[in-house]
Amino acid sequence: MKEVAFGYLPDESFDALEDLEEAFLTSGYVSPSVVDKTLERVAAACDNKLQADSPIIVGLGDPSELWYRANPAPKDMDPWDCYTRRPPAGELEEIEAAFSGIRHHVAEGLRTAFPDTTFILAGGLEGRIAFADGGVVKLPIDYNPNVFGDSGELPGSKRQRMEALRALYALPERSKFIAYNILNIDPTEKTHQGTQVQRRLPIVTLDALLDSGNPPCLQEAVRYLKETAEGLEFLVQNGLRLTDVTLRNIAIHSNTNQALLFDFDGLRLDDAIMEAYTAAPEWWPPERRPRIREESDSVNQFMRMPLTESDVVKPRGRVEVSEMVFELGTSLSLAFERYADIPAEIAKLAAGMTEANPENRPSLKEVIAILQDAFQDPTEKDTGFGVLAL
Ligand SMILES: Nc1ncnc2c1ncn2[C@@H]1O[C@H](COP(=O)(O)OP(=O)(O)O)[C@@H](O)[C@H]1O
Ligand SMILES: [Mg+2]
Repeated sequence: MKEVAFGYLPDESFDALEDLEEAFLTSGYVSPSVVDKTLERVAAACDNKLQADSPIIVGLGDPSELWYRANPAPKDMDPWDCYTRRPPAGELEEIEAAFSGIRHHVAEGLRTAFPDTTFILAGGLEGRIAFADGGVVKLPIDYNPNVFGDSGELPGSKRQRMEALRALYALPERSKFIAYNILNIDPTEKTHQGTQVQRRLPIVTLDALLDSGNPPCLQEAVRYLKETAEGLEFLVQNGLRLTDVTLRNIAIHSNTNQALLFDFDGLRLDDAIMEAYTAAPEWWPPERRPRIREESDSVNQFMRMPLTESDVVKPRGRVEVSEMVFELGTSLSLAFERYADIPAEIAKLAAGMTEANPENRPSLKEVIAILQDAFQDPTEKDTGFGVLAL
């Protein structure tokens, strides 16, 4: 795949797009004249600023963002309930169905106004990933100004991620359980910018595989999680940390049938001070959970994130290996909920990994050893003699 540089709509055009979303939230409907008005504003902002030869990425109408904006949590709601609140089944799909037509009109309007420019319109968190030119474009995550301070940026996080990715890619050794598919990163730290271009991989994420009509047998699921732990151990051994080890972020490669870590938004050097914990709330280790609720707005109700450092017990800090173990333990527990007859040592392992006290959690090496042994026939256990696989 050739390297593609991506352009952006000028910042002023985001206001117009946000007003369009607001109009949708107010009435559940947007009239053609509002779309036209939006396009006029976008066009005015774009005049002379678009580079015709680079595709422009437009994020518009993320259904979950729209849902949280339409359904702010009650002000007296417990922060943890607020964090873990999810839209009822079907509601996101409804919003998406209603909004996708609007997105389509905006896309058509942009294409008419700027016939020489390619627009990639993305909506939804899944829409942070746009499939283009046989590759994958990953949009930046720093969109929400409420979460990360006045500037709208997550200060330092792009730089930290970049440093960690550089370190990972510079290592002489590679892990079989890590996807090395990033082709190009726009290094800018500016808001809305900093796109990644990736090679497209033949992968299925573990959550999708478990929910599919053809889920892996327990033994295979255990192997995938052991391989994930090996990928994490490789990172740790090489001075790196990773958060957001959810089932959605573990991929199974269709050709090799092996687990791969592929979402590196939460990658950091082991001495980096992480400014905002990235995983979804269910995966937050208790020591990272918010316990203090100061004023009514201490939790951002639409993104379910702490607004300021003082809202969480440990808002900043290095990522500890014990936190990675907790996240993997949560994934492990969620995966194994789907199976009957879980071996006792695995149930015990899952409980240990998600222990409230980080000091009681096992190391990644111990996790790997237990998962490795779980289904090994005792007669095949290491006898001290090497067996040559032919
Ligand atoms: N390089 C890739 N090749 C194929 N599919 C991908 C690739 N990167 C992401 N995806 C798909 O897009 C989804 C979201 O990607 P991810 O990197 O996890 O983004 P996010 O940070 O939004 O979670 C993944 O679950 C996966 O199915
Ligand atoms: Mg992900």
